Amino acid sequence: MIQTYINEIGQYVGKEVSIKGWLYNKRSSGKLRFLTLRDGTGLLQGVMFKDDADEGTFSLFDRLTQESSLKVNGVVRQDHRAPGGYELAIRRIELIQIAEEYPISPKEHGTAFLMDHRHLWLRSSKQHAILLVRDEIISACRDFFHERGFVLVDAPIFTPNASEGTTALFETEYFGEQAYLTQSGQLYNEAAAMAFGRVYCFGPTFRAEKAKTRRHLTEFWMVEPEMAFYDLADTMDLAEDFITYLVQRVLKNKEKELILLERDLEKLGKVVKPFPRISYDDSVQILQEKGIDFKWGEDFGAADETILSNEFDKPIIIHRYPLKSKAFYMKTDPQNHQLALCLDVLAPEGYGEIIGGGQREDKLDELEKKIKKHKLPFEVFKWYLDLRRYGSVPHAGFGLGIERTVAWICGRSHLRETIPFPRLLSRIYP
Ligand code: 4AD
Ligand code: MG
Repeated sequence: MIQTYINEIGQYVGKEVSIKGWLYNKRSSGKLRFLTLRDGTGLLQGVMFKDDADEGTFSLFDRLTQESSLKVNGVVRQDHRAPGGYELAIRRIELIQIAEEYPISPKEHGTAFLMDHRHLWLRSSKQHAILLVRDEIISACRDFFHERGFVLVDAPIFTPNASEGTTALFETEYFGEQAYLTQSGQLYNEAAAMAFGRVYCFGPTFRAEKAKTRRHLTEFWMVEPEMAFYDLADTMDLAEDFITYLVQRVLKNKEKELILLERDLEKLGKVVKPFPRISYDDSVQILQEKGIDFKWGEDFGAADETILSNEFDKPIIIHRYPLKSKAFYMKTDPQNHQLALCLDVLAPEGYGEIIGGGQREDKLDELEKKIKKHKLPFEVFKWYLDLRRYGSVPHAGFGLGIERTVAWICGRSHLRETIPFPRLLSRIYP
């Protein structure tokens, strides 16, 4: 007997195969019985005719409940009407477990209920499709950097210092010392870039943000490249190439999932470089011309970002924000000392910021002044300052938030559906 998976069944037309999975649904009509089997790789329709199946199998069918686990044997048939293009003529069903009454039924459920059942909700077709797209995006991130000679150098999760400001830190005790969960691998990435040239890190990051919005998780995944000898313009080029690559990869390999999610593929198809590049100053002007009461120096809110991105049908790069609103490590723009050599990438269609980054302060005395200005403790940055003592070079990098990217590419409005088990301000279960 050939043991196979639903997504490989096309190789076995006319042959008898065995598939292990779960009952998605079933129905009967006269002497016919239909079931849909789910095995993690896809859905498969099985048909059973009373006279072809053994007695035990036929009566077992009637006892099967949604999500019961089973092994099904049958002959593969090509059938253009069946979802997936194949159908199984069932000969035998072996029961593994009869499932108790499954809490998630095809009827509508509220968000709180689904979130409480996230461990089961993952089996539903839309959630399944989103996480397949996430998997594709993560593989594409790794491929993109490896193909270009970047080295993966992971950053620690426990850190003695903050990187993105001290207000959103998760504090923990580390054998009697104060420690924090990392907000970004960037500072360690800078050390790695001085050792390997071009590097990236990819891992979970944490922000104790009290924000109860659809764009904030307290635990999210970030992929962060860091490049020695890159300036801001080089970094914008890389960000543009990277996003184009991710979107085109998903379009190529996960089209079926995007269609299931009712995503507008034409809009994604337009995501090819070059992207519009707009300075912060010009962005402020665009907002003011639209009658928005926006003061120079403020950070853009979600509504402002949507107004700006709606002007274009591609991601946009906004560069050179006011220095005072940004993290301590940003390099001052030599042309205008009020500005930082930084960039954000905003996704189109109002999905907001997906990338933040820029050029780093590479001069020792300037960096020391910035640490002082931000009232950060020198002690924990001794190692970081060393990077400016021993062969300091211009360097830059950025971080891309995986969940915000998944939300945009899948067309989901809330980040809670873009990570297997979301951690939110008011949720740590399941
Ligand atoms: O703009 P951020 O804060 O940049 C940094 O952390 C830099 N140190 C990265 C670097 O240069 N290496 O965060 C980068 C990205 C954001 O653009 C967004 O996509 C995501 O991380 N992000 C979040 N995603 C989900 N929930 C949150 N609370 C997020 N905060 C940031
Ligand atoms: Mg940012």
